[in-house]
Amino acid sequence: MRTLKKIIFPAAGMGSRFLPATKASPKEMLTIVDKPLIQYGVEEALAAGMDEIIMITGRGKRAIEDHFDISAELEANLVKAGKRELYQEVSRVARMAEVIYVRQKEALGLGHAVLCAQHWVTDEPFGVSLADELIIDKKPAMLQLREVFQATGCSVIGLMQVPENQLSRYGIVDYITEEKGLLRLTNMVEKPAPEDAPSHLAMVGRYIFTPALMTLLKDVKPGRGGEIQLTDAITTLAKQEPVYGVLLDGQRFDAGTPEGFLQANAILGLQHKVYGDTLRQTLKAYL
Ligand code: UTP
Repeated sequence: MRTLKKIIFPAAGMGSRFLPATKASPKEMLTIVDKPLIQYGVEEALAAGMDEIIMITGRGKRAIEDHFDISAELEANLVKAGKRELYQEVSRVARMAEVIYVRQKEALGLGHAVLCAQHWVTDEPFGVSLADELIIDKKPAMLQLREVFQATGCSVIGLMQVPENQLSRYGIVDYITEEKGLLRLTNMVEKPAPEDAPSHLAMVGRYIFTPALMTLLKDVKPGRGGEIQLTDAITTLAKQEPVYGVLLDGQRFDAGTPEGFLQANAILGLQHKVYGDTLRQTLKAYL
């Protein structure tokens, strides 16, 4: 088995659920407390040993490239102003990872975005992470997936329990439980009505795939909304080889929507070691 080093961050979507905020700036650059969503995602990937990053971007996404680039002028100014800690942080972010940027010229769906990375992945296993789905857990979510991948050599998908009234927002899985509590996925249904949902377990934007997924993606025909759906390729993959699910139990926020973004900022803000106390005091006056 080839070593798992590569991870794809699809970040070329329209972000239409968060307009007008996302009209001219990428939703992946929305800030949760003090750093953008995409930085949380990249830090999580690095903590799981995936340090070859392939970012799928499109028009209007330059800010992501600039965020992970060195700004010599900014760094020099921070040093000159004696702002040592800020300099160290800015310099750390610019050097934290090697990133390849691939342009998805048309937003033809998540499956298509992943397929745009095919030349850089070739015959290796690879991760996929959706940075607008923010997951905060004691053990980084991608690391939890990696452990199951290392143990099985099979594709692994992050899952979370969702309430009945939210089933129609997610890809919901059907599964059987194997020995050692491994969840083997047998089917996936995209955004089902509650009565059609096979379980309460939803796919939550963290994946590790064997190279076979890329081959299958090439044959996926446009589905719902003319988009090439990643879920279609996963469903076929699960019929050809085992695909496992990992039940994550951390905090999850759909930060690509105003509701999830506000929740993430409120909750992570309250938990923050520097800003938490002041925020709590301020909010008390409004509750
Ligand atoms: P979403 O459906 O959540 O993103 O796709 P979106 O299309 O940007 O959002 P809305 O629905 O219009 O508000 C999941 C992930 O896949 C990426 C998105 O950037 C997001 O990270 N994506 C989606 C692409 O990279 N390309 C696409 O064509 C579609």
